[in-house]
Amino acid sequence: MRVIIVDSAADVAAAAAARIVRAVNRARKHSRAAVLGLATGSSPLGTYEALAALVRDGSLDLRGVSGFALDEYVGLDHAHPESYHAVIRTSVTEPLGLDPAFVRVPDGLASDLSAACEAYEQSIADAGGVDLQLLGIGTNGHIGFNEPTSSFGSRTRLKTLTPQTRRDNARFFDSLEQVPMHALTQGIGTILEARELVLVANGEGKASAVAAMIEGPLSSMCPASALQLHPNAAVIIDRAAASQLNYTEYYEQVEANAHLVE
Ligand code: GLP
Repeated sequence: MRVIIVDSAADVAAAAAARIVRAVNRARKHSRAAVLGLATGSSPLGTYEALAALVRDGSLDLRGVSGFALDEYVGLDHAHPESYHAVIRTSVTEPLGLDPAFVRVPDGLASDLSAACEAYEQSIADAGGVDLQLLGIGTNGHIGFNEPTSSFGSRTRLKTLTPQTRRDNARFFDSLEQVPMHALTQGIGTILEARELVLVANGEGKASAVAAMIEGPLSSMCPASALQLHPNAAVIIDRAAASQLNYTEYYEQVEANAHLVE
């Protein structure tokens, strides 16, 4: 796992955007359009803004690129501004100029939710798999909506949100009661199949989850620790999010000398 510690949220966004640009260009070199895994939450917003700026100034061409969101609330109308359908549309699809037909979000309104999850897995497979999955991390270590105790082999499925996650996400709603109880989420097994993972986190509130993910044991109690199993995962964090790490000096040494071995 690469651990990249930078000074500010803007630097986190720039470094994550650079990796996405690299993945898009790498796919183009092989005459195909990249498949991106998209995260919601506040953490990746800066990354999307950095990419949108590159699209606007003409230095990044995302034509043909497709996207798969990590997750979606169950039972929230797609027109609800906090549904991930709406969030992905307004923070990713529109500003990046992606073709909406190429951007998928799990269907939390399906009458048969498990069939919708299976169909979602199939559409990822049909697209040839995800080239780069962008991730945030919950304060309890969740990725997507894979809450603590989620199986590392899990696939897209229904999850019940923890009280902690509902409290954390209540800031997006008028009240805690309005935060849905359930979500559909790509599984940890699904996420681990992406060819590259980039997780972004900012601020002290994420420091303990970040430390558990990077330096803690591999454990379903910290779903993000599954990133330790991935051969091409980068965690890009600011100093506050890195504040509970023990090996900071080492990570900085690795990054400072990366050009010697790349
Ligand atoms: C949400 C999302 C996650 C996200 C996390 C952190 O519940 N399902 O994909 O990473 O919470 O959100 P934020 O970046 O706003 O802290």
